[in-house]
Amino acid sequence: MKAKHFLAAFFTAALLFPACQSPQTVQTPSFDEIVASRRSIRKYDPARTVSEADVRTLIATALEAPSWANVEATRYYVILESGKLAQAKQMLGGNLRNVEDAPALIVTTWVKGQSGFFRGEATNEVGEGWGTYDAGLSNAYLILKAREMGMDTLIMGMRDAEALRTLLDIPQEEEVLAVLSLGYRVEDPSRPNRKSVDEVARFF
Ligand SMILES: Cc1cc2nc3c(=O)[nH]c(=O)nc-3n(C[C@H](O)[C@H](O)[C@H](O)COP(=O)(O)O)c2cc1C
Repeated sequence: MKAKHFLAAFFTAALLFPACQSPQTVQTPSFDEIVASRRSIRKYDPARTVSEADVRTLIATALEAPSWANVEATRYYVILESGKLAQAKQMLGGNLRNVEDAPALIVTTWVKGQSGFFRGEATNEVGEGWGTYDAGLSNAYLILKAREMGMDTLIMGMRDAEALRTLLDIPQEEEVLAVLSLGYRVEDPSRPNRKSVDEVARFF
């Protein structure tokens, strides 16, 4: 009887072993594929959630972006909890309808007086603009990483910064910038036209 059980277990294991061994072919999209497939998504799958671990991966990637003197002044306020999420969505004006089913929002800010500053003085005429520059750059890394992981985003400049500041207890030292929605698309928008290289660049 015991030998019978042993043989059954042995053959089951032998059958399953190759299946466990065969590597799952996970195709990572190329950089060009990520760029081409990223779109501003304004309709999200209500059935799919985003985990804190996923968002941590996105922020870790955003932290790889260059910043002025490596000051890394960009900050992220991640909203995953449903009650807070519903409240924050009300602070996005007309964007509410775009992100009503998005499972996550990330409010991005930057700490003023760091990027572009030296000993408390603006280094040049761009001033606090460098903080915006760094934050935009880090946001770009974040949204492209999201796309690589199969997720979608919408950058929103239309938002009530002061209401979000109160909701998330964002200190006055920080300027509230864009709100990013995060989730999974249920629409596939076509690519809006882009200018040609010759329209935007001059070569010397
Ligand atoms: C700084 C910034 C602010 C934006 N604000 C909004 C917004 O408030 N609402 C919105 O629907 N789209 C917003 N967008 C998305 C743009 O409309 C979108 O990126 C542009 O039309 C190009 O489309 P694509 O992202 O699909 O390539 C914003 C984009 C950026 C970069």
